[in-house]
Amino acid sequence: MKIVRIHHFGGPGALEIDDVPMPKPVDDEIVLRVCAAGVNAIDPSVARFPAPMGRDVSGVVEICGVRAKSWRKGDEAFALLGPDRGGYADYVVVRSTEVAFKPSNIDHIHAAAVPLAGLTAWQGLFVHGRLQPGQKVLIHGGAGGIGHLAVQMAKLKGAHVITTVPGSEIEFVRSLGADRVIDQDTERFEEMGERVNLVFDLMAGRTQDRSWGVLARGATLVSPLSEPSQYKALQLGVRASRYTVQPNAPQLAEICRWIEAGRIRPHVCRVYDLDLVAEAQTYLESHPVRGKIVLDVAGSAESGFQ
Ligand SMILES: NC(=O)c1ccc[n+]([C@@H]2O[C@H](COP(=O)([O-])OP(=O)(O)OC[C@H]3O[C@@H](n4cnc5c(N)ncnc54)[C@H](OP(=O)(O)O)[C@@H]3O)[C@@H](O)[C@H]2O)c1
Repeated sequence: MKIVRIHHFGGPGALEIDDVPMPKPVDDEIVLRVCAAGVNAIDPSVARFPAPMGRDVSGVVEICGVRAKSWRKGDEAFALLGPDRGGYADYVVVRSTEVAFKPSNIDHIHAAAVPLAGLTAWQGLFVHGRLQPGQKVLIHGGAGGIGHLAVQMAKLKGAHVITTVPGSEIEFVRSLGADRVIDQDTERFEEMGERVNLVFDLMAGRTQDRSWGVLARGATLVSPLSEPSQYKALQLGVRASRYTVQPNAPQLAEICRWIEAGRIRPHVCRVYDLDLVAEAQTYLESHPVRGKIVLDVAGSAESGFQ
């Protein structure tokens, strides 16, 4: 079977499509025939080469481990894989703690856009950010892979959602339900005249530094990117933390229910064949992206994409 692996540091040019044996499931693992895989940035912390690429998959159950009692061959599933395996592949082993039934009302291409971005949004807003109905949240980067799902989830929770985006994305995030949209190119969010209960920071750097002033007393700043200053948080009487997204089957199942109820819709801006993975990865790193880019691993007919 085919799998995309990165063979040395050096960006998309270091990606190769390798031939490897079919994986075998152990205990409650399943083997998924991958239909589509979400494209995410190359992890710069790779420790060992060749490293498998891709953590988001949507596909069809091919083989069940002896203790995988919840699954049957032919079931459609989507998953966030641990970093030890790669989803840019024909087949991948998935653990029971990582996988949920795929939403029945969307194709594999759109389902593959969800796990990493959706769980990063869920865990940032609800687990680390403890967002409550009626609270105000400022989401930096509301048009990106994580941000466009975070805007919809925060609205579903009953929060007042403010988001910063490039000028070209204002109408897009309004259509997702954002209450207030700040054009990062022409406005300064520090001058918006409101304080928020939560900053969900998907930008880091200067944007994170500039965010302290918009936090209400007792508020929270959460980022999946860089560790916020604990000294600054203490000074201001706020909470601040960095987290890394974790696979979580029950949370993914909950996101699936929201999608099936038509309350969240993932947006896919570009689709590439697996053979064009380097092109997809290069595009992600060098162009504005609305929502997600996805690899059509099985070919458009099988992935349900038109
Ligand atoms: N630690 C973890 O667990 C974890 C998990 C997943 C992702 N991440 C990281 O989280 C970050 C966000 O991921 P993503 O997938 O959502 O990224 P993305 O798809 O690239 O989205 C970023 C979005 O923010 C926009 N943007 C750029 N500068 C901005 C600014 N100053 N203010 C407001 N919006 C701005 C971008 O617009 P343009 O495209 O026009 O620049 C784009 O729409 C990435 O760095 C990713 O690597 C971390």
